[in-house]
Amino acid sequence: INKIGVFTSGGDSPGMNAAVRSVVRACAYHNIECVGIYRGYEGMIDGDFITMDARSVKGIINKGGTILKSARSKEFRTKEGRAKAHEQLVKAGIDALVVIGGDGSFTGAMIFNQEYGFPVMGIPGTIDNDIFGTSHTLGYDTALNTVVEAIDKIRDTASSHNRLFFVEVMGRDVGHIALNVGIGAGAEEILIPEEDLGLDRLLDSLRRSKQSGKSSSIVVVAEGDKIGKSVFELKDYVDENMSEYEVRVSVLGHMQRGGAPSCFDRVLASRMGVKAVECLLEGKSNFMVGLNNDIIDITPFDQAVKGKSKINMELLRVSDIMSI
Ligand code: F6P
Repeated sequence: INKIGVFTSGGDSPGMNAAVRSVVRACAYHNIECVGIYRGYEGMIDGDFITMDARSVKGIINKGGTILKSARSKEFRTKEGRAKAHEQLVKAGIDALVVIGGDGSFTGAMIFNQEYGFPVMGIPGTIDNDIFGTSHTLGYDTALNTVVEAIDKIRDTASSHNRLFFVEVMGRDVGHIALNVGIGAGAEEILIPEEDLGLDRLLDSLRRSKQSGKSSSIVVVAEGDKIGKSVFELKDYVDENMSEYEVRVSVLGHMQRGGAPSCFDRVLASRMGVKAVECLLEGKSNFMVGLNNDIIDITPFDQAVKGKSKINMELLRVSDIMSI
């Protein structure tokens, strides 16, 4: 391997810059050339490349977003798109890739590897933590802290007005963010896709909350929750069925993806970048690097993408006890 291409793909997450920095510096350390690919697979198809040396990644470890930009490429899903991408890589002399992204990005990498035998390693970058083979994806820890801080602020106004808030958080189809911030911010209820609480139980719980003398209530709702109602419909439902609450809704949205990465995410990114480059140099390919019991190890892409949810249901019980 002489020249490694690195890119960020899919939804951005805090810590992606720290991971790019780590890949670039690990390449410099091992005397390998490194090329940044802009806009994920889109930029690969267009040949939008930039040579990166150790100094080109100075001052980015603390920056949110991704200096390489990110995209969800439709063209790369086609055979023709991937052929164009391959042509561009060969032309630029790039002979291996590190992709920083989520399951969609890994699926693309896997197909590309099957078609062209192109060596590729993945770094899990998404706030959702929805990837098997790592206890933490990059950006997840930062997002938890961002969301907890936001809910703390909502709590201030909720208790001033004795209000109930439904707070919708991201996470796509999984409830990791909701479950953890729910406990961290002292939510009365947490609605996640992995467990259907049911509307009756929600109302019972809100009634109990009121009777126990609470001045405010926060219900954290994962965006993928399966209760069958949006946060706005939940508000209407409670309005119709319970007169004792004044209800408001807050959808936190994309602010959850921004901000400076936490120290945890910076360290994780640095460790993962080094491991990804060193795996390529050892001849490994088609794996994602991950953190398990404080060890950085690797999981085949197909398992990382298809593996079972790692949600910790014990947290729901803890939340129930805490919200008594
Ligand atoms: O995967 C990260 C994520 O932020 C999800 O939590 C969310 O469902 C989705 O991306 C939003 O995607 P977009 O940025 O395309 O609106």
